[in-house]
Amino acid sequence: MSHNEKKFLLLRARWIPIFLAAFALLSVALPHASAQSSDKIVEELPAGAMQAKATTSCLECHESRIILQQRLSKAAWTKEVDKMIKWGALVDANDREPLIDYLSTNFSPEKPAYQPSRSAPAKNVSAKKSK
Ligand code: HEC
Repeated sequence: MSHNEKKFLLLRARWIPIFLAAFALLSVALPHASAQSSDKIVEELPAGAMQAKATTSCLECHESRIILQQRLSKAAWTKEVDKMIKWGALVDANDREPLIDYLSTNFSPEKPAYQPSRSAPAKNVSAKKSK
């Protein structure tokens, strides 16, 4: 083997760990990026006749928590649902009323406040003022 050939092989060999490292990084980073969103706690909407339809129509753009934490009157839910329809929620005309009933039954002002599930123990809960 000539001196030049040796040098060439050495140069090539030097790239191998770099390629390996790059592939290793990619294979770790890529699935992780897509897994992250599904790692989030996504709570289900309450059981009921409209659960499946509400899940399809209402969790398309945001997660359930935005709904679960509401405590609204039927009039306010009507406005809310109509606003979401205006913003692009796909709700069958026949489902609009049952959906408003479902939401205003499960998330009425009479219901106790939403208890968010937390990944870390709650701090200072007793210090928090309730409305
Ligand atoms: C086309 C996308 C889209 C769909 C579908 C959708 N929403 Fe929304 N929703 C939004 C956006 C945008 C916001 C406001 C931004 C935010 O806070 O994330 C929002 C906010 C909300 C809020 C918080 C209060 C407010 O008005 O900002 C509630 C409650 C809500 N949506 C309920 C629903 C319900 C119930 C449905 C099913 C009928 C629904 N959403 C479907 C886009 C959508």
